[in-house]
Amino acid sequence: MEIVILPDSAEVGRVAASVIADVVARKPDGALGLATGSSPLAIYDELARRAAAGELDFSRMRGFALDEYVGLDYAHPESYHAVIDRTVTKPLGMDPELVSVPDGLAQDVPAACAAYEAAIDAAGGIDVQILGIGANGHIGFNEPTSSLASRTRIKTLTPKTRADNARFFDSPEAVPTHCVTQGLGTILRARRLVLVAQGEAKAEAIAAAVEGPVSASCPASVLQLHEHATVVIDEGAASRLHNADYYRYTWANKPEWQRY
Ligand code: GLP
Repeated sequence: MEIVILPDSAEVGRVAASVIADVVARKPDGALGLATGSSPLAIYDELARRAAAGELDFSRMRGFALDEYVGLDYAHPESYHAVIDRTVTKPLGMDPELVSVPDGLAQDVPAACAAYEAAIDAAGGIDVQILGIGANGHIGFNEPTSSLASRTRIKTLTPKTRADNARFFDSPEAVPTHCVTQGLGTILRARRLVLVAQGEAKAEAIAAAVEGPVSASCPASVLQLHEHATVVIDEGAASRLHNADYYRYTWANKPEWQRY
């Protein structure tokens, strides 16, 4: 894995956005894997800025979101359908017809999950997947003990995740108990992974993901099995890494031709 430690959130967004921009420039009809949460917002801000400046065109890119709550109306502002539309599709100028979010309202959940996997395959797979990380090490909504080979499916949210996300709802009880999420096996199939994290609240999860054993106890540790994963974090999120100096040295000495 490549670990990039940067001074602040804006810089995290700028460098991670450059990885995405490189893919969009090379393959303007490719597929982006989209994450919700606060962590990737700096990426979307930077990409929207570059799109507005005419440097990037997202109009032919496909998008596949990682996850969605089960049973939450898509008109609810915190449904991931609404969040993706508000924070990604509109600001980047993507075609809403080309942006997919897992179906949290399906009558037949397993069939809807299988259809989502098939849609990703039909699009030729995901070229670059954006990821945040939960304080418990989840990616997408793959909570600890998720199978490392899992595909899109229903999951039960942990009380910790529901509490973390309660700030977006009227009350803690209003946070749905279930979600549908791309699996860890689905995420591993993306050609490139870019995980971003900011702040000390993520430091423990980042240390476990990057330097701990590959384990379903920290779902993000599955990135260690991917051939092209980049972790872009600020100093707070890096504060529990043992080998931080080596990662800084590697980034500072990265050959220019190797970026991004
Ligand atoms: C959410 C999302 C994840 C996200 C994580 C962290 O619940 N399902 O995709 O990475 O939790 O969120 P944040 O970036 O707001 O800390």
